[in-house]
Amino acid sequence: MEVQPLSGTIGARIAGIDLSQEMSNSQAADIHAAFLAHKVLVFDGPVLTPQQQLRAALLFGEPDIYPFIKGMEGFPEIIEILKTETDKSNFGGGWHSDTTYMEKPALGTMLHALEVPPAGGNTLFANMVAAYDALSDGMKSALEGLKAVNDSNALYSGGRAAAMAKMDGMAKANVVEAETYVSEHPVVRTHPETGQRGLYVNRSHSKRFVGMTMEESKPLIQYLSAHSVCPEFTCSVSWKPGTVTVWDNRVTQHCALNDYHGHRRLMRRITLKGDKPQ
Ligand code: OGA
Ligand code: MN
Repeated sequence: MEVQPLSGTIGARIAGIDLSQEMSNSQAADIHAAFLAHKVLVFDGPVLTPQQQLRAALLFGEPDIYPFIKGMEGFPEIIEILKTETDKSNFGGGWHSDTTYMEKPALGTMLHALEVPPAGGNTLFANMVAAYDALSDGMKSALEGLKAVNDSNALYSGGRAAAMAKMDGMAKANVVEAETYVSEHPVVRTHPETGQRGLYVNRSHSKRFVGMTMEESKPLIQYLSAHSVCPEFTCSVSWKPGTVTVWDNRVTQHCALNDYHGHRRLMRRITLKGDKPQ
């Protein structure tokens, strides 16, 4: 297996691994080590069957049910992320990390491309450990002990239901009426496996700081969200049919570029069970 970094701070393409096949124990260990080191791994290969994708996901964690979108027939843990030729909105088009509003947010997410536009449709990722490290000592101590209230109703971006209703391709068949989830998590989170500390607020889901009003919180949420995605902390992942990308959701944010109107893009996603952020 060959690890090709995608930028100076985050992401690697992995050559010499075919995720449609079963991995040996040593391959699985190498892949897991690369996942922790690079936070985002990209594999090019054949389009996978749902069974093959589920087996590959087990290299990284345990598949979970995503509450807002119905899973595929017979595969409740796999959801389809679709933008059609006529859709203008896309899914995941603002910077975020997945399910931060759950008590136990996703450890990571695996996205697999089936249909991609002729150009565009990349996904950007940002390294939240690099973002935290780059803060001043004064800001770091101000954030110590601070918690944020994370809310699935995506308040700074206009609300989840309104956003989903605009995505025709997905809204028609697959949206599930779910409750609004709200959870408090530390603004600086410690990775349970590496011990690295990373920023854990995002403009899509973090609503306010615990003990503060939204009005008081908003400027600092906006600042930290903007700082988190400085170009130096990011990489851009391009897709072909068959590409699989897995991200460590505990220490990254991502954003799906919406630059391919008039073309279809279809992905299959598996969300991985996480633990309570500390
Ligand atoms: C997601 C997501 C990004 C993309 O599936 O969580 O944000 O590029 N998707 O489709
Ligand atoms: Mn996402």
